[in-house]
Formats: sequence, C-alpha cells, structure tokens
Amino acid sequence: MAVENNERVTVVDHPLVRHKLAVMRDENTSGITFRQAVHEITMLEAYEATKHLLTVPVEVKTPIAPASCETIAGHEPVIVPILRAGLGMLDGMLEVIPTAPVAHLGMYRNETTHEPIEYYAKMPGYIAERQVFVVDPMLATGGSLIAAIQALRSRGVKDLVAMVIVASPEGVEAVLEADSDVRLFTCAIDEGLNEDAYIVPGLGDAGDRIFQTFGTPVTSDLEPAHR
Ligand code: PRP
Ligand code: URA
Repeated sequence: MAVENNERVTVVDHPLVRHKLAVMRDENTSGITFRQAVHEITMLEAYEATKHLLTVPVEVKTPIAPASCETIAGHEPVIVPILRAGLGMLDGMLEVIPTAPVAHLGMYRNETTHEPIEYYAKMPGYIAERQVFVVDPMLATGGSLIAAIQALRSRGVKDLVAMVIVASPEGVEAVLEADSDVRLFTCAIDEGLNEDAYIVPGLGDAGDRIFQTFGTPVTSDLEPAHR
C-alpha cells in the first residue's frame, strides 16, 4: 500500500513545518526548544487537520454594518492526548480550539515487546457525540495509536482524526488496516523502524525530549498503580 497516496492520509507540507521538523530532529536541540517546536508545529498541523470542521452561517453586526459570517457548528471537538508525549501537543491544539474538552488516555510501550499498555483513561460520557482529535507525536509500530483508536471506538466515537508529527510507513499502514475510517495527519513519513522499533531517522524518544527524562528512572516505594 502506498501510504502517502492514501486518501485518508495527509502529510502536512509547509516551509514552517519543515523548518520546525528540522529543529526537532536535531539531537543538539535543547529540551525547551524541542518542547516549543512541538507546540508550534502542532498549531500548524491543526490548521490542516481541522479543515473538515463544519460551520454554520451567523449574522453579526460589526461597528460599521451587518456581516454574514460563519462559526463552528455544534459542540467543540474533544482533544485526546496519548500520555505522555501527546501532552506536548495539547496546548498547541488548545491554542486553536481554546474551548475544547480534553480526554486523557495513558499508554506506554513495553520496552522489550513494544506492545502498548493502557494505564489511564478519563473520557467524558458525551465523547461518542463529538468529533475527536487523538494526538501523539510518534507513530512507530502503530501499536499505541491502534490501541487508542480501539479505546475510543469502544466508547462510541465515530468521527475520529489522528494527528502525529512523525510516522513510519509500517505504522501508517497498520493504523489504516486496523481502522477503516480514521483519518491521519502527519508532518512526515520517515524511512522505517530500527531493531528497537524507533523511527529512522525520526527524532528519538519524543516523551523523554519533551519532559527531559533521561537516564535510569528513579524507583518509587508506591504500589505500581500509584506511581
Ligand atoms: C511513544 C510515542 C507513542 C508510541 C509510539 O510513547 O509517544 O505513544 O511510543 O510507538 P508505537 O507506534 O510503536 O506504539 P512511549 O511508549 O515512549 O511513552 P511516553 O509517551 O510515556 O514516553
Ligand atoms: N516512540 C518515540 O518516542 N520515538 C520513536 O521513534 C518510536 C517510539
């Protein structure tokens, strides 16, 4: 399957997007600059990914004269960041849709099997009636996004858009195969995956770069569920 040519896949291509991607890919970029670039690129990507939002006509009065305008129809879409790295995209989404509700979904990859493990979900009861944007910077094997999509579908979500920043061809294909309706936006589709299932050339571990969590994790005395 030529994933770039699939009608459900949009690669957001713009000079500013390409510039911010270069900043993010550079291993010498500092944590604060990386986080800022994730924030900015998300706003640019959101501009494309929200193009399908429906509008309704409204009449307003300017200080000069009546004007025929449009506003977003119905209720605001729900933003679903996949924890942790998806949190880096949340504020960028809220900059463009400030009144959007936020539902959190916690997933991490088992470092050996690369299988996604869900550890948290907080969804509003009305999520099935809304358009949903699920956000996570990295789409590698696709396991995490597919599990997130399934978690949303099982709660009745019908209108679903996934936004990532860097994807692998394998991950895109897996997501399109796993769900026959989701639309996917990404800023790049890279060469592939390495033996550790990291995207090549990618940008490394997005969560660690956003939150600056490098080195051996400090252990906790709390029970696993409370860590
Ligand atoms: C990363 C990334 C995605 C996932 C992508 O999260 O943010 O959620 O890996 O990989 P996949 O497509 O192979 O599932 P990670 O598991 O590192 O957790 P984190 O966000 O807490 O850092
Ligand atoms: N998760 C990341 O943060 N980066 C990758 O390349 C793959 C998974």
